Amino acid sequence: MILGHSHPEVLSAVNEAMAKGQLYAGQFADEVHLAELICQSVPSAELIRLGLSGSESDQAAIRLARGYTARDLIIKFEGHYHGWLDHVVYSVGPSPEQAGPVDSPNRVPISTGLLDRDSECVIVLPWNDIDAVTSAIERNKGRIAAIITEPMMCNNGCIPPKDGFLQGLRRICDDNEIILIFDEVITGFRLSLGGAQEHFGVTPDLSVFGKAFANGFPVSVLAGREKFMRLVAEGKVLHAGTLNSQTPCVAAALATLRILSSNNGEIYGRLNASGERLRVGLAEAATKAGHRLLIQGIGPVFHTGFSDLSAVETYRDTWSYDTAKYTRFADELLARGIRVIGRGIWYISAAHTDDDIDHTVSIAEEAFKAIGR
Ligand SMILES: Cc1ncc(COP(=O)(O)O)c(C=O)c1O
Repeated sequence: MILGHSHPEVLSAVNEAMAKGQLYAGQFADEVHLAELICQSVPSAELIRLGLSGSESDQAAIRLARGYTARDLIIKFEGHYHGWLDHVVYSVGPSPEQAGPVDSPNRVPISTGLLDRDSECVIVLPWNDIDAVTSAIERNKGRIAAIITEPMMCNNGCIPPKDGFLQGLRRICDDNEIILIFDEVITGFRLSLGGAQEHFGVTPDLSVFGKAFANGFPVSVLAGREKFMRLVAEGKVLHAGTLNSQTPCVAAALATLRILSSNNGEIYGRLNASGERLRVGLAEAATKAGHRLLIQGIGPVFHTGFSDLSAVETYRDTWSYDTAKYTRFADELLARGIRVIGRGIWYISAAHTDDDIDHTVSIAEEAFKAIGR
C-alpha cells in the first residue's frame, strides 16, 4: 500500500471508473494509458499483460519462458517466494533439518498436493552464489528455460544482491539463452519508479509486478521485451483471465502510477527518507535497550530481526534470527497499538508522516524494554 489506505485520488479514479462499467472484455483507453506508463517507467517493459495476482503473473512468466525456449527446467533460489502456484512452491523457508547441502539445497515443498514430476523441473540453488548457478547450468546444458529471482530477497531478511550477482545472472542468461525473470512483486514501484531493475541497473527479460502497483487493488503485471511477449500476443503461449482488466483495478493502478511518477518521482525521496528515519530510530532504541537488532533493506522496505550476525547474506544466515524473541517484540508493539508483520518485514507508505515514525520509535523503545534482554 505504497500510498497508504484509501488515498483520495485513487478512490476517486476507482469510483469514476466504476460508475461507467466494471468489465469490458475488450481493451479500453485507461488500460492503454496504464501500459504506456509502465513501459515508460520500467526498463524491461516493452509489452505488458495484466493479471490478478503476483502468483499468477509469475506462473505466466515461467510458461512464457518455457514456451519461448522450448526447455523444461527452471532455477529458483532458496528462501525466495514467487507465489503459491505449483512450479515455485519449493524451499521458501526450509529448516536446517530439511535444507540439505549448502551448495545443492534439497527441493523442499511447502505444501502437500504437489506432483513429484512437476518438482523435477525445478532446481533450487543458494542465492548470491554465482558459482552455484554456473555449475548448475553446466550440469543441465541446454535444458534451463529460466532463472527466476527477487532482485532483493525481500521475503527472507531483505537481503540485497552481492556486488555483481545480478550482473552475473544477466551475463549467464545471455550466454546460455536463458530467460531472466525478476519477480518485482515487492520491489516494483517501491525501490524506485522503475523498480529494483532500475535501482540496481540490471535489466531482466521478463518482470512481474503486484502489491504496490495498484495500492491494494487486485491487479498484477507481466512485462517484458517484445520478442518474448509477442508469443502471448500471438496466442502461442496462453495467458488468459476473464477478470484480468477490471476497470476499478486498472483505474487504481493508473492513478497510483500517476502519483508515483509526478514531479519526477519526488515521492521516492520522501519514502526513502522516512525509511531511513525509522531504521535509524529503531536501531538506536534497540541499542539503548541492550538488544542486537539487525536491520537490512532499501528505501521503504526493510527487515528487522534479533541476530548476532552483522549482516545476513544468504537464506541460511536467516536461521540466526531469534524468532521467538521477535514474536514477543511484535506482541509488545501490538499491545501498544502498533501492528507489524510477525516475520520481520516492514513497509513504509507515503501516508506515514515523521510524527508517525517518531511515535513508532518511541513505542518500540517501550517494547524493547518490555521484552528484556
Ligand atoms: C516476491 C513475491 N512474489 C510473488 C508473490 C505472490 O503474489 P500474490 O500474493 O499477489 O499472488 C508475493 C507475495 O507475497 C511475493 O512477495
